[in-house]
Amino acid sequence: ETGMFTFDPGYGATGSCVSGLTYIDGDKGVLLHRGYSIDELADKSDFLEVAYLLLEGELPSADVKASFDTAITRHTMVHEQLSTFLRGFRRDAHPMAIMCGVVGALSAFYHDSTDIHDPQQRMVASRRLIAKMPTLAAMAYKYSQGQPFNYPNNQLSYAENFLHMCFSVPAEPYVVDPILADAMDKIFILHADHEQNASTSTVRLAGSSGANPFACIAAGIASLWGPAHGGANEAVLNMLNEIGHKDNIPEYIAKARDKNDPFRLFGFGHRVYKNFDPRAKVLRKACHDVLGKLGVQDPLLELAMELEDIALKDQYFIDKKLYPNVDFYSGIILKAMGFPTSMFTVLFAVSRTVGWIAQWNEMIKDPAQRIGRPRQLYTGPGERPYVDASKR
Ligand code: SDX
Repeated sequence: ETGMFTFDPGYGATGSCVSGLTYIDGDKGVLLHRGYSIDELADKSDFLEVAYLLLEGELPSADVKASFDTAITRHTMVHEQLSTFLRGFRRDAHPMAIMCGVVGALSAFYHDSTDIHDPQQRMVASRRLIAKMPTLAAMAYKYSQGQPFNYPNNQLSYAENFLHMCFSVPAEPYVVDPILADAMDKIFILHADHEQNASTSTVRLAGSSGANPFACIAAGIASLWGPAHGGANEAVLNMLNEIGHKDNIPEYIAKARDKNDPFRLFGFGHRVYKNFDPRAKVLRKACHDVLGKLGVQDPLLELAMELEDIALKDQYFIDKKLYPNVDFYSGIILKAMGFPTSMFTVLFAVSRTVGWIAQWNEMIKDPAQRIGRPRQLYTGPGERPYVDASKR
């Protein structure tokens, strides 16, 4: 009751949804994709197999996996006009701004895969998006570096191809480091889907009106960009650089505790997890593995470990159940792999496109699906007569 109108939460309140893709237990720190734990998938699967699992509901046989991989690689190139489109951006454009633009532009290039009620067209649109996101992300990176675009090489795996498109240059041979490829594939697996987070809910809400699937994914990219969501991995690195030295950690913990200070400790806390984010645990180990194998001594990793240690013992963080989340360690690995911080959320978007499009398919296929229409609690004035300007 607002004193004016009775708020009826039952009327078309379709802010929530029914889904069988991903299960999270925030208190226990559990994350399952179609029943398989993220720990096992990160350790034993590969990104395209997880993509198939999310899309189709089961782990594929070897033959089915091979044909799915081939089907995806068949779509890795983008229309040459998209290269022209991308070159219209300023060189200093943020890669996420470019991704919002070029992925939305895909809706102007592919008219043969947008009849959302045709299963075949839904499948083609889904595979096009999964295949082209790494190509577009690599183009956004190359453009920011002032280097020529690389075409995909379909002899390579998904992660190898992405690293090739990002880091190879015409002037010298480039061989993908298997350590980097393995870390890249693991990072893609860990970011693939996460139930009804802000960007996935954005894709579902946009898709619920029957909008073009490419445009819906562009909407998800826009939502993911925020520093409270996918933009946190970039914000974590910027925060660690600002903290600079472990002696400064108490000052930043105090700022994070101060309700009058808008500062929050990026990489900590979660809407759902009130325990360790299981993805952070996998990434923490991967961080040490990758930096060790690459022989990288990154003071930011030591600083991050010190910050984690202090924050986990801080009474405020204990009381608020704030633990490191998926973004806390991902940036450190990505930095060690050679990516600039501006590309971190782009890589998150490449991976999350699998979750977004799997959730979109699940929603579109649901015969009970209706247009999303979140409700509001009205707090404005009651009805009143118009007042002529001379009497205001
Ligand atoms: C992702 O939803 C998903 O699944 C997202 C994601 C995915 O895979 O899609 O997991 C990816 O977005 C991970 C989150 C990345 N964001 C950050 O690391 C940014 C820093 N984190 C915070 O902004 C915050 O923790 C949020 C946005 C993630 C969650 O905010 P909430 O919902 O307000 O968190 P909460 O309700 O659990 O907060 C409880 C209290 C609040 O204080 P009170 O209002 O109770 O006084 O803890 C405070 C918050 O203000 N708090 C923090 C904090 N996070 C929460 N205080 C200081 N530092 C923080 N990081």
